[in-house]
Amino acid sequence: MVNIAVLGLGTVGSGVVELLKLNEDAISKRLGDEVCVKKVLVKNLEKKRSELVEGKVTDNFNEIVEDEDIMIVVELMGGEEPALTYIKQALISGKHVVTANKEIISKHGKELFNLAEEHDVNLLFEASVAGGIPIIRPMKNCLAANKIEKIMGILNGTTNYILTQMTDENKSFDVALDEAKIEGYAESDPTDDIKGFDAARKIAILSSIAFNTRITSDKVYTEGIDKLDLLDIEYAKELGYLIKLVAMAKKHEDKVEVSVVPILLNKEHPLCGVNGPFNAIVLEGNAVGRVMFYGQGAGKMPTASAVVADIMAAVRSDNGNKLYCTCYNELDVMDPGLSRTQFYIRLRVKDRPGVLSKISGAMAENEISLSKVFQKHTMNGTAEIVMVTYEVPFKNLQEALEEIQAYKQIEEIASVIRVEEES
Ligand SMILES: NC(=O)c1ccc[n+]([C@@H]2O[C@H](COP(=O)([O-])OP(=O)(O)OC[C@H]3O[C@@H](n4cnc5c(N)ncnc54)[C@H](OP(=O)(O)O)[C@@H]3O)[C@@H](O)[C@H]2O)c1
Repeated sequence: MVNIAVLGLGTVGSGVVELLKLNEDAISKRLGDEVCVKKVLVKNLEKKRSELVEGKVTDNFNEIVEDEDIMIVVELMGGEEPALTYIKQALISGKHVVTANKEIISKHGKELFNLAEEHDVNLLFEASVAGGIPIIRPMKNCLAANKIEKIMGILNGTTNYILTQMTDENKSFDVALDEAKIEGYAESDPTDDIKGFDAARKIAILSSIAFNTRITSDKVYTEGIDKLDLLDIEYAKELGYLIKLVAMAKKHEDKVEVSVVPILLNKEHPLCGVNGPFNAIVLEGNAVGRVMFYGQGAGKMPTASAVVADIMAAVRSDNGNKLYCTCYNELDVMDPGLSRTQFYIRLRVKDRPGVLSKISGAMAENEISLSKVFQKHTMNGTAEIVMVTYEVPFKNLQEALEEIQAYKQIEEIASVIRVEEES
């Protein structure tokens, strides 16, 4: 009998308890051992709980960490504290830890993995990135023979749902966000999702594993989708692209480029088929080529699926074969200004002769060539100019746009969005 404790009995915690019951037979046959939830930690003891946890609920972590019969602590409370302290105490007490907490892994991974190694226990976190989609263990095990060159992912279901509604139903950002809240795909405070912070934590974790170097989420260049206009989505479609919020990491010699930004993706790119709340990750390895992982990136049972698999892996690893930190490199994160890509730019200008030649002059001075230019919606003396550049370092574009902004004929630089031409 393997005794575990579950910290947190919310969406994922209750899913884990239910899944362990639902698939009890299969799990114990596959494992050769039974998994028993001995204790459950909650904040509010007054809340009504499922009968599956009757007599097991506590609000005192000491009852768990001091219990020598508990072999695995499963942290599903979320947030930084007290979850971080509890994880550390559990590791120090010689218990394996399973967590779905991307905030903690992306910020404190190094310290926690060192602690796990020191105390000869496992720290497993499959559910912290892309919920039910297996990605951490496949990267660490099945793809271990590869050098990963690039990762592109749709790692946030809320923003992907909103963008799908904007693209397919022509809804504005605000309307699509309200709908996402009603459908349960967005929290009442959606800041972490729409500003790209949630996806930044996840790509920090994935790029640390892919490039064997510690990358924290504060190093990820991040732009959200909250400034996106329906017009950009329409123009993108006309040009043969769809806009997605893409988490990207790429290896350059001794640097790692890592970002979360909206991107105009070639309509043929595999990530363009990922719609609604679904997540997907496309990896490129030097032996395997391109592989894609697709599925539900959140939700009670999909996330429980990853957590319970981690619990089983922790049991199996108890007699050796631990999955320790693989960050043996120390690579710097590349200055975002040096990132080379194509850009889509939308400007609102006074409809006068010579404006376009001034704009293209500033672009040429900064070594930027334009692959597409067109003018739209001329009304009340204002025109809209849409341009797509060839590949250029971001800093060159920033310098050109600073010059352009100063021209009195320019009313607004309305949008600057990266473009991925590759399908
Ligand atoms: N929801 C998803 O689809 C999903 C997907 C992937 C990863 N995750 C991650 O999984 C974790 C849990 O998410 P969730 O959505 O299940 O959260 P949730 O529904 O808000 O549940 C949180 C649980 O933790 C308990 N808790 C909070 N603070 C506590 C404290 N100080 N002491 C004791 N218990 C405390 C709460 O107790 P009470 O019940 O007493 O309030 C509640 O049972 C987070 O790290 C999240 O990022 C979630």
